[in-house]
Amino acid sequence: MDFLIAKDDLHRCRFEDAEPPEPAPGQALLAVERFGLTANNITYAVFGQAMSYWDFFPAEEGWGRVPMWGFAEVSASAHDGLQQGTRVFGYLPPSSELLVTPARVGEHGFSDASEHRARLPPAYNNYARVEHDPVYDPAQEDAQMLLRPLFFTSYLIDDFLGEAGLFGASTVVLASASSKTASALAYLLSRREGVDVVGLTSPRSALFVEALGVYDHVVPYDDIGSLPQGRVVFVDMAGDAAVRAAVHEHYGEELTHSAVVGATHHDRMGEVPDSLPGPRPKFFFAPDRATKRSADWGREGLESRLADAWRPYVEWTEGWLRVIHGEGPQSLERAYLDLLDGHIDPASAHVLSLRR
Ligand SMILES: NC(=O)c1ccc[n+]([C@@H]2O[C@H](COP(=O)([O-])OP(=O)(O)OC[C@H]3O[C@@H](n4cnc5c(N)ncnc54)[C@H](OP(=O)(O)O)[C@@H]3O)[C@@H](O)[C@H]2O)c1
Repeated sequence: MDFLIAKDDLHRCRFEDAEPPEPAPGQALLAVERFGLTANNITYAVFGQAMSYWDFFPAEEGWGRVPMWGFAEVSASAHDGLQQGTRVFGYLPPSSELLVTPARVGEHGFSDASEHRARLPPAYNNYARVEHDPVYDPAQEDAQMLLRPLFFTSYLIDDFLGEAGLFGASTVVLASASSKTASALAYLLSRREGVDVVGLTSPRSALFVEALGVYDHVVPYDDIGSLPQGRVVFVDMAGDAAVRAAVHEHYGEELTHSAVVGATHHDRMGEVPDSLPGPRPKFFFAPDRATKRSADWGREGLESRLADAWRPYVEWTEGWLRVIHGEGPQSLERAYLDLLDGHIDPASAHVLSLRR
């Protein structure tokens, strides 16, 4: 079964039921167990065409399968090196099955060498075997599905800003402060000496963001004029043209770096005007930074640093994150449409399954 979204209207979606495919020699079939769903997946759909997110899991003309992060088990294998029953974590379609062509199979896992994925960022093509994954903990599977890719991004942004000496600033302003990617970054930045972390959020989420305890100040979007003055780095998870303009106008040349990370406000995006004061916003793409740090530290060096930072972070999220579990097509469709329209409490997140 596949959950399909119309590429030209993200509110139009449907399910398609079909028999699971038979793996040809060299292929394997993954039974998708469960996956997390957050605004990150909505962004994959919004940029499905522009950033090729629709290309990971092709569907019939005009329809897309939006990528999810989750767990799967090898349910049938026609690949000599990959046993049936192997459990992995990785990039999955919102489907009950995924056919893969495993390559570079080892105790760490494998990568999918299917032809249509060859030109896509390699970080998305890797499947980690749970028993050899330094981040994996059986008691924290929900957190892993929901937060691992987001925390990984935040870890890499924190590392990037640290390496750049915070571009000479001592304050970092984060937009869409209630998002998990932003709060993970605030959590990491708050552990650095002498950094002031400011969260911009919607008025309805301001109390939640304050209670997280990782922002020094919380400012609602309608009060950007009250942001503290001084040299500042802006990290934007919202992608909201009006918020970006207000922050750039407020700081002007005091803004030392403007990083574009996300677009949770996908219905309020807009071109960056030439007249925007301060530095041009620069896109931060986590897979590119991961490639750089894998080259610097080795893949294992990066993974062990990440695992060390991950454990205390997950403990912290256990104090506030509520996981909503859902099974079957209706739960998935409802959760997706609610999230698309921003109807979710920031303290919650969905873990879903289409298992037969
Ligand atoms: N560049 C990269 O490599 C990279 C990697 C990972 C994630 N990201 C991006 O980071 C962003 C955050 O992802 P997440 O999964 O952490 O988000 P999340 O936790 O699901 O974010 C929820 C928050 O997003 C805002 N929001 C969500 N839907 C909205 C809507 N329809 N209208 C208005 N506001 C809405 C609200 O925050 P506020 O009220 O506080 O605005 C809401 O509390 C995504 O855009 C994601 O793609 C980028």
